[in-house]
Amino acid sequence: MPRPKVRKFQVPTLLDVARQARVSTATASRVLNGSATASPPVRERVEDAARVLGYTPNRIATSLRQQYTQTVGLLVPDITNPFFAAVAKAAERTLRLAGYSCMLCDTEGGVASEQHDAMVCLHRRVDGMLVISNDSSASFFEKLGQQGQPIVLVDRPSSRILDSVRVDNADGTLQAVSHLAARGRRRLAIISGPPTLLPASERLHAFVTGLGLHNLPRVEDYLHVTGFSITHGYDAARFLLALDPPPDAIFAGNNTLGIGAIRAIKDTGCRIPEDIAVIMFDDVYLAESLEPPLTVIAQPTEQIGAVAAKLLLERLDDSGRQPREVLLKPQLIVRGSV
Ligand code: RIB
Repeated sequence: MPRPKVRKFQVPTLLDVARQARVSTATASRVLNGSATASPPVRERVEDAARVLGYTPNRIATSLRQQYTQTVGLLVPDITNPFFAAVAKAAERTLRLAGYSCMLCDTEGGVASEQHDAMVCLHRRVDGMLVISNDSSASFFEKLGQQGQPIVLVDRPSSRILDSVRVDNADGTLQAVSHLAARGRRRLAIISGPPTLLPASERLHAFVTGLGLHNLPRVEDYLHVTGFSITHGYDAARFLLALDPPPDAIFAGNNTLGIGAIRAIKDTGCRIPEDIAVIMFDDVYLAESLEPPLTVIAQPTEQIGAVAAKLLLERLDDSGRQPREVLLKPQLIVRGSV
């Protein structure tokens, strides 16, 4: 059953402006494009008509003529995740100030859906893409980059061919382990995301390194590798708390794992930090409203988004520049959960 044709809002056209100003469309176009060949009275009639009608240039027609759409594809795994949302917001703001619109794609955490969305963006003739990828390899987007499509990878994975911006996951994780050790915690556990994703594997590796640096025991059951969802965090924390002895601290590898772990700890009646300390990679705006307020390793999400957008704008200005990887520093924010 074909969808009933809903009468679309009739956007004023160049022809409407020309008729209103009693000139040809060629004259109206020249005036609105700023060429000086029209007389002042004609220019005034055309400009008045465009203002009264609320005329704006047809972007699609302009882009067909100029081969640019002033539009950027923004691909993220889950727009409901505060980290991705904050990065997307910062990137969109920077791009908007440069005259670009964004086409936001929630790739649902899948590689196939991500590649489908990327092709949709290409078919919509985006001028470039910012991608937080679900893929462990950058090869799909590197191929597009080598074919001339401006692309910046954000957060994961890394690439020698494409511009990218990430945080120093190892530095952030070592800050977390050092803080736990300094607060006298000895039986440290990690709930780690999928090692196929670079941030998760880097954090897991750094966590184990940190145990060695602080002469803390490495207990294999305390190195819990799972997914990147709230449920994964919940189930992992329940498993860890059932061990004998249980850990006295949990490092959650990202925001969703941390939220799930806290929910599990509360469900078992354990107290934070009296019975178990919790520290989470990623800050979320509710972290300081929790009881106790959550100690986190905060990523500079505003900076990540803005730097990603700037890298893309620089690439749009100079397609031949050398690829750059920008590594930003996460920050330990001490609150009350350790
Ligand atoms: O859930 C968001 C997490 O996934 C963040 O830690 C970010 O680094 C991404 O990898």
